[in-house]
Amino acid sequence: MTGDPALWDASAAFATLRERAPVQQTVLPGELVAWVVTGAAEARAALADPRLAYDMRRLPDPCQGFGGRRYPDDLFSAEGRHLLNSDGTDHRRLRTLLAPLLSGAATRQWRPYMDTTCSELLDAMAQAEHADIVADYARPLAVRVTAAILGIPPGPLPRLTELTLAVIGARDPEAPGVRKRKTELFGLWARILREKPRDPKDDVLTQLALAHKKGHVTAEELLSVAWGLFSGGISPTTTLITSAAVELLRHPHLRRHLRQEATASRLTDELLRLISPFPVSVWRFALDDIPLGGTLIPEGSVVLIALTGANRDPALFPQPDTVNPDRNKGHLAFGLGAHYCPGALPARLLATAALTALFTTFPDLHLTVPESALRRQGVLIEHGYQCVPVRTRSAQATGTST
Ligand code: HEM
Repeated sequence: MTGDPALWDASAAFATLRERAPVQQTVLPGELVAWVVTGAAEARAALADPRLAYDMRRLPDPCQGFGGRRYPDDLFSAEGRHLLNSDGTDHRRLRTLLAPLLSGAATRQWRPYMDTTCSELLDAMAQAEHADIVADYARPLAVRVTAAILGIPPGPLPRLTELTLAVIGARDPEAPGVRKRKTELFGLWARILREKPRDPKDDVLTQLALAHKKGHVTAEELLSVAWGLFSGGISPTTTLITSAAVELLRHPHLRRHLRQEATASRLTDELLRLISPFPVSVWRFALDDIPLGGTLIPEGSVVLIALTGANRDPALFPQPDTVNPDRNKGHLAFGLGAHYCPGALPARLLATAALTALFTTFPDLHLTVPESALRRQGVLIEHGYQCVPVRTRSAQATGTST
């Protein structure tokens, strides 16, 4: 991954690495040296290995893993104390709080709201005729639904979204402009969370704020778990819906799977494997010398699991670049084990609803630029497309040419 980051193709880069070895030391963009795991079997073993810690403070020298400096994309590891930088009992305490709030039963209640929001956005797209799947559909959908599930009030939502997107899309999180936005962002979160217990509702943020009042969650955890849920929710969900739509534009025959809920849901799962919206896991830190994939990862190393590499490993997924909804092998797009994504159920349900509504409403949807002109965000944790311009009706239907 060198040259223009907007042209990076993470899955191709990790496939090249995997062909050399399933686990190897690599210099990543930004010059950070990390061990990258690209083989499916090795990735499963690494995701389940408790000696690969999420909390860098457990290293004898916490700076050792990053060679004394922070990696520029170290967003999810760095912001306060939350699920993705805690292990053991602290991590279990936070997960136990979240589990009932994002369960299957809790998630299914949101389906009517998901469908209504899809319809509203598609109506607006129909009026405009030319649209961008990212800005006009996938992103506002992911933002509105995630905000509703969490319980973010509508007033601060637009600014909160703007700041969140600026921070997660920043190439250099330490740049003065980005620091300023982070200060405003966390100030806004503090205000939202302070208000929640005053008007208690049956939503995720109210329950977290009440748990804080009872002393079960620290002030720092409250703030950074809330930020992690929103930023960690909207970014991959937007990427999944957008990239899946591009895949279905490329292969129209796959859209037949959208006719029934059960097959649509299997299609979403297979697209999750193929797209892997988070190409890599968050950082792990080796607490010991760890033998893996025929090599030895030394104690203190930074380890990254290339989810997109593992999800296209032909050893587990024959013809890995082909979409086949009948595969029944588990993919790693949501991780594995204790840190398995708690937002997997709402994300899967929303993506299925979104793709079904999009292609049912606009059977003639097509790109207005060649696919080779699409550009990525250019940050590894935010690997989705910048924009996907489409036309909602065929040129014949409107009597004009594209
Ligand atoms: C397509 C959408 C999504 C994808 C692909 C995805 C992917 C992932 C992955 C791979 C992990 C594990 C990272 C690791 O172990 O290194 C994770 C964790 C997490 N995800 Fe998601 N996610 C998605 C949607 C969501 C949503 C909608 C939410 C919130 C509502 C969410 C909240 C979280 C949180 C809080 C964690 C940390 C869990 C822990 O450490 O215990 N995610 N996600």
